[in-house]
Amino acid sequence: MLKSYKYRVIYDKLKQDIMSQNYSSNEKLPSKRQLAMDYNVSINTVKNAYEQLIAEGYIYTQERQGYFVESLNKLIIQQDSTINGGSALETIDLPFRYSFSHMATDNALFPIDVWSKRLKEAFNLFNKELSEMPDFKGPLELRQSIAQLISYKRGVTCHPEQIIVSSGTTHLLRSLLSLFDQPMRVGIEDPGYARFRQLCLDMNQHVVNIPLDDKGLSIYHLKQQKPDFVITTPSHQFPTGTIMPISRRIELLNWVTEQQRYIIEDDYDSEFKYGTDNIPSLYSLDKNNRVIYLGTFSKTLMPSLRISYMVLPNSLLQEYDKLTERQISDLSSLNAYTLHLFIKSGDYEKYIRKMHHIYSEKHHLFINSLNQTFGDDITIYDMKAGLHFLVKIKTSLSYEEIEKRSKHHRLELYTIQRFTSQDNYYDNSNAKTFVIGIAKIKPEDIQPAIELFKSILI
Ligand SMILES: Cc1ncc(COP(=O)(O)O)c(C=O)c1O
Repeated sequence: MLKSYKYRVIYDKLKQDIMSQNYSSNEKLPSKRQLAMDYNVSINTVKNAYEQLIAEGYIYTQERQGYFVESLNKLIIQQDSTINGGSALETIDLPFRYSFSHMATDNALFPIDVWSKRLKEAFNLFNKELSEMPDFKGPLELRQSIAQLISYKRGVTCHPEQIIVSSGTTHLLRSLLSLFDQPMRVGIEDPGYARFRQLCLDMNQHVVNIPLDDKGLSIYHLKQQKPDFVITTPSHQFPTGTIMPISRRIELLNWVTEQQRYIIEDDYDSEFKYGTDNIPSLYSLDKNNRVIYLGTFSKTLMPSLRISYMVLPNSLLQEYDKLTERQISDLSSLNAYTLHLFIKSGDYEKYIRKMHHIYSEKHHLFINSLNQTFGDDITIYDMKAGLHFLVKIKTSLSYEEIEKRSKHHRLELYTIQRFTSQDNYYDNSNAKTFVIGIAKIKPEDIQPAIELFKSILI
């Protein structure tokens, strides 16, 4: 968290409490030391927040006694008022103590000095290009680097012209679906990636939920629902972790080929497999231009970089180029050229190797600690891949109660409910299912976080 942001959180929260008269006039505020501990920040950060509140007249200080609330009248707020987005203040929460987020990465070893060096090089080498409006599909140099990378790593053989680089897979999916003037039937794995489901609903596409079986996406349901596009995560189903066997991959490819439909292969975390080799992509098996391939740097580098890409089959390329010809890219070209140099120099490969080792260790620690802490009360669906896995744990609490408690204890936790369309599908009265992300938490925090998790479920 940036220092200025931490200061702002404390300042906003106190201001909100004072304005809503949660403190009475002249009431003493918590000591700087106390707040510093509560928010896990330095005393100086709290002091900055207090000083700003003094400057604005919300509080005053008495030497050696601390900080006190000024005597203020309550500000009248009319029912229908929308002044200054006041409601946003109500959502300020304390930062999480521990995180089981499946979306995060571990940045501790990110080679920021190397990245900065490549950024400088990119600025000098591509100075002319950086002073111009970028190509909608992203810089050609980065597309060439990606083409080489995915050909070698994932068997995705394509021309750089087939690649579009953008600031996130949802943007790419949106631009793909915008090619069609009518709503498409889009098949989404259930459970599956909630952001894609939401995007399709927002775009008024016809979403059809395709249940899973032990091999991944169910062909039986696919044949019944007949979507125009089916979005799938065959290398590591999100969030259940199933790795789709070759028999199911062939069935899926044959169905889309016969029916003239498309697969959108979301290959979001295939770089991390612990113990097995990489599984070939669906794109590499396809001989009929039926697979659209999605890749991302959100797992291998970091999600905040916002660099993802899509490989279009030739059958869709012309139409896509025609429609997007005049559109402006949402990608930072400076980051894109930096990434190109980072890949070309071998820095990227080196970093992935390092992170593979780190994540493999964390994965191991997590599994051991969960087994030891929960014993017979836990079932772990461990596929030895990626940055998350599913667990089912015995508890009589409801999902809502667990979410409330984990928020209260400042544990970032996601239940399966977020990813399924069927409210009660996983709602077993004496067990609940969770998605456990392993990346963000520090190794030494794994055991205390799991103990906290257990205390929440009792
Ligand atoms: C299932 C799934 N697909 C795709 C992505 C990549 O999304 P983006 O490239 O927009 O960060 C993620 C990232 O967390 C994911 O979990």
